[in-house]
Amino acid sequence: MGRKIAAGNWKMNGSRAALAEITALIDAHPSPNVETVICPPATLISFAADQAQGHDLTIGAQDCHASVTGPHTGDLSAYMIHEAGATHVILGHSERRADHGETSDMVLDKVKAARRVGLRPIVCAGEDLSERESGNAVEIVTEEVLASLPDDTDGSVVVAYEPIWAIGTGKTAELADIAEMHGAIRAALTDRFGAEIADEIKILYGGSVKPDNAADIFAVANVDGALVGGASLKAVDFSAIITALELA
Ligand code: PGA
Repeated sequence: MGRKIAAGNWKMNGSRAALAEITALIDAHPSPNVETVICPPATLISFAADQAQGHDLTIGAQDCHASVTGPHTGDLSAYMIHEAGATHVILGHSERRADHGETSDMVLDKVKAARRVGLRPIVCAGEDLSERESGNAVEIVTEEVLASLPDDTDGSVVVAYEPIWAIGTGKTAELADIAEMHGAIRAALTDRFGAEIADEIKILYGGSVKPDNAADIFAVANVDGALVGGASLKAVDFSAIITALELA
């Protein structure tokens, strides 16, 4: 089945010192059932991968380009990220869909590129507030997930459900809504890829996960971990979330 996943999305934040701090806490609080992934800014990937050696920590990127090489100033290919030492890559985060106009078609190409070099994609999808209020969130999100995943998807692919209105706002989705959405995503994955693969795919929840709500969220069916933004920048908070997942 593979381990549950606690992934920290540092966004455009973080430092070398912060990496040392979280690594020390991970060492002090072993979590054998949890894979911990830190996704720092690209400038820190190589350093972070070196630091993670010998610790129960893996490193991810926050994006990659769909092409292998080429005239794309400022972009990084999946191969480059992999060579820098990353094993995972967040793709289709709502901030990239909003800030960089990424469509599910573009995310799909990035997922394919990541898989070609052996990077484990963490594919994000989520509804905005008006979509939640329209009552169509489940259809919108499951469609976004499926549109972002290639036909050869297997159990190494990770999906993250992140309601946009819950990201960085301190608001979390109701537990019943998380249960409904994660169940619907699992069912959609089963329909498309079969039960064996769908059961292997980890479905993470993201959106204001904190030490004080983590245990409740991790108790929800079909929640296999979390994608954590703000709270992953505070080593003590992220460590508490990892422990909550270990105990779930
Ligand atoms: P948050 O961010 O935990 O700060 O809400 C989650 C994310 O954007 O992945």
